[in-house]
Amino acid sequence: MAPGDSITGARLFMARCNQCHTISAGGMHKAGPNLHGVVGRQAGTQPFYFYSQAHTNRNVVWTEENLNKYLENPKAFVPGTKKSFPGLKNPQDRRDLIAFLKEAH
Ligand code: HEC
Repeated sequence: MAPGDSITGARLFMARCNQCHTISAGGMHKAGPNLHGVVGRQAGTQPFYFYSQAHTNRNVVWTEENLNKYLENPKAFVPGTKKSFPGLKNPQDRRDLIAFLKEAH
């Protein structure tokens, strides 16, 4: 399998994530929390963002493996989440996006 390509991931982010998330350091929260430095972080810990109870209670670290599962189907990985995003079904899309999230530090 090809490794993730962060340039393609950046395009995917703009197309699929940007309406609800910013990625820049100190970026504002939109419908979803700012995602700067999310890889390796404990879920549900962005200051001043109001997560759902389900998300806050989902005690997980955003490793690449967990992000891969979450992005495939957010509602399956965090039952009860308020996030209304169906997920990215193409594994290469998820790899590209995670490569981008990792680089956006
Ligand atoms: C329709 C809006 C929407 C879209 C589109 C969306 N998200 Fe989200 N996202 C949210 C919301 C809302 C939450 C918080 C969920 C909760 O509190 O239940 C969230 C949470 C997250 C989290 C957890 C952050 C943390 O601090 O624990 C990650 C990671 C994430 N989204 C990544 C993405 C990526 C990558 C995409 C694009 C593929 C995306 N999201 C698309 C709304 C969205």
